[in-house]
Amino acid sequence: MRLSRGSGIEIKTPSQLARMREAGLVVAQVLSEVAAAAEPGISTAELDAIAERIIRSAGAVPSFLGYHGYPASICTSVNAEIVHGIPSKAVKLVAGDVLSIDAGAIVGGWHGDAARSIIVGGAVPGRDDKVVALLAACELAMWRGLAAVKAGARLTDISHAIETSALASGPYGVIREYTGHFIGSAMHMDPPVPNYGRPGRGPVLAEGMAMAIEPMLVLGDRHTILLEDDWTVVTADGSLASHFEHTVAITPDGPIVTTAEDGGRGGLASLSGLADFAGLGEVAELSATGGLDGKVGKGGLGGLETVPAGEDYETVAEERSGARRP
Ligand code: MF3
Ligand code: CO
Repeated sequence: MRLSRGSGIEIKTPSQLARMREAGLVVAQVLSEVAAAAEPGISTAELDAIAERIIRSAGAVPSFLGYHGYPASICTSVNAEIVHGIPSKAVKLVAGDVLSIDAGAIVGGWHGDAARSIIVGGAVPGRDDKVVALLAACELAMWRGLAAVKAGARLTDISHAIETSALASGPYGVIREYTGHFIGSAMHMDPPVPNYGRPGRGPVLAEGMAMAIEPMLVLGDRHTILLEDDWTVVTADGSLASHFEHTVAITPDGPIVTTAEDGGRGGLASLSGLADFAGLGEVAELSATGGLDGKVGKGGLGGLETVPAGEDYETVAEERSGARRP
């Protein structure tokens, strides 16, 4: 694989991006089918079984399963759980639960990673108004971040777009300890993509790069606690949490959201400045050009690491050049 000069970021060929699009479409299918199945009474372990079946029957591999010992194919984070909730037979969903579903798949060695939050059983006006607003704010912040992804932009332009959007939507807590990440031949690749900070810093984005943009917003304070299972991240104050994520790749025809069925057109159309987004036609053609049959690279493990509170991008990136833990 080729690395971008200076930044060390993996640069994908069009055929490698086409594999990432295939992986992304598997992830999109998982999220929509799992969301549809997430009715009151079902356990999160049953949702995991559905996800694994979809991934494998598509000829893909679940990237989460076995990742640093992670025991499932998806993460199911309920209510005050922000990310990395482990599916369990004992967790049966109840109407009104906030469920965040996070899934990853590998096709031909290339990754897709996405997440969304839903209200189990659907939103009930009056009961769920605050949660509906929280989820909308988190999804909007994600799309604003995705819209900032283009060749020539700087990495923290994404961070800034996400945080600005989140704070304009309401007095939400924006999680700092967990971040987005670059992605490609591995799920978590350096550098991290923080969900806050000043614009105009970090590597310059270029064709062939791909990243997972994943804001986490909470109703209360932004501080987090890691549970005893060493995976589940919860809000310290017990407030409800949301998490939205998409993988976006910068193709020769412009960016495409690989994990959105429509390539991101719908989500971005709800914002302004859709013009430079790749059409599905162009990207679909890429899939015909063959590709690498790589294995899952061990790669960097840059995603979802701890970002010390109050640190800026350069400090975080520097400090992390040693430590590697999701
Ligand atoms: N989307 C999550 C992330 O970026 C997926 C967690 S992967 C797990 O980290 F395997 F560690 F669960
Ligand atoms: Co991710």
